[in-house]
Amino acid sequence: MRIGILGSGLMGAKLGTIFARAGHEVVFSYSRSEQKLKTLARKAGKNARAGTPSQAANDADALLLAVHWSRVGDVKRQAGNLAGKVLVTCTLPMRRDDRDLAVGHTSSGAERLARRFSKARIVSAFQTVPSEVLFGVFASRRRSRRPTLVYSGDDARAKRVAARLIRDVGFDPVDAGPLRIARYTEPFALLVAQLAYEGRGGPELAYRFERFRE
Ligand SMILES: NC(=O)c1ccc[n+]([C@@H]2O[C@H](COP(=O)([O-])OP(=O)(O)OC[C@H]3O[C@@H](n4cnc5c(N)ncnc54)[C@H](OP(=O)(O)O)[C@@H]3O)[C@@H](O)[C@H]2O)c1
Repeated sequence: MRIGILGSGLMGAKLGTIFARAGHEVVFSYSRSEQKLKTLARKAGKNARAGTPSQAANDADALLLAVHWSRVGDVKRQAGNLAGKVLVTCTLPMRRDDRDLAVGHTSSGAERLARRFSKARIVSAFQTVPSEVLFGVFASRRRSRRPTLVYSGDDARAKRVAARLIRDVGFDPVDAGPLRIARYTEPFALLVAQLAYEGRGGPELAYRFERFRE
């Protein structure tokens, strides 16, 4: 697939690198440093290049939105028309001070994005793990017991695309249902971040849901 990365920071840089190593064509975009995007693309290998948000969006089969909540409007302006595009978002609706969610209970960041990018096909994914665990999960992808990654969305085709990407990174994708379920996954992402950054053992943390029956 052709994947455009909108926001090449901690999440976008790592996920884009993994997508490229998994065989996808990747365009890294949206950084304050063009040189950083070029270096990222070079390190990610022959399938990756640097571009503008509108170049990343052009011809993309899927886009990853990975920016601070406060930058969404700017990215939208720069990316241009995203009608019909699969837009996978790991963006959390954090307040500017990053202490709390700015949206919750009766809506979610993902649902707000679906309203802002009204013609795009939004899938909420990847926000429930810290960036620090991504390369480790990718390195362990041949193991039979994979960590879980929940995702949600209202568009079946877009969800299939997202599930493939989740699998390519090395997770076991779990379809949590419609986009409104992001109301639960976004606070859960903060729990994982709390455990990753404030708990013992370091931030290389993923999770796995299992069923136990008598
Ligand atoms: N980090 C995590 O572990 C994690 C986990 C789950 C969810 N999330 C969510 O994922 C999203 C991305 O997080 P992140 O940690 O990857 O963020 P980040 O490292 O801050 O990356 C954001 C990207 O946006 C770019 N950017 C910021 N301001 C800009 C501007 N004025 N002009 C152009 N580019 C600009 C940054 O550019 P530069 O390259 O110049 O810095 C960077 O490439 C956030 O919504 C966050 O809440 C993050």
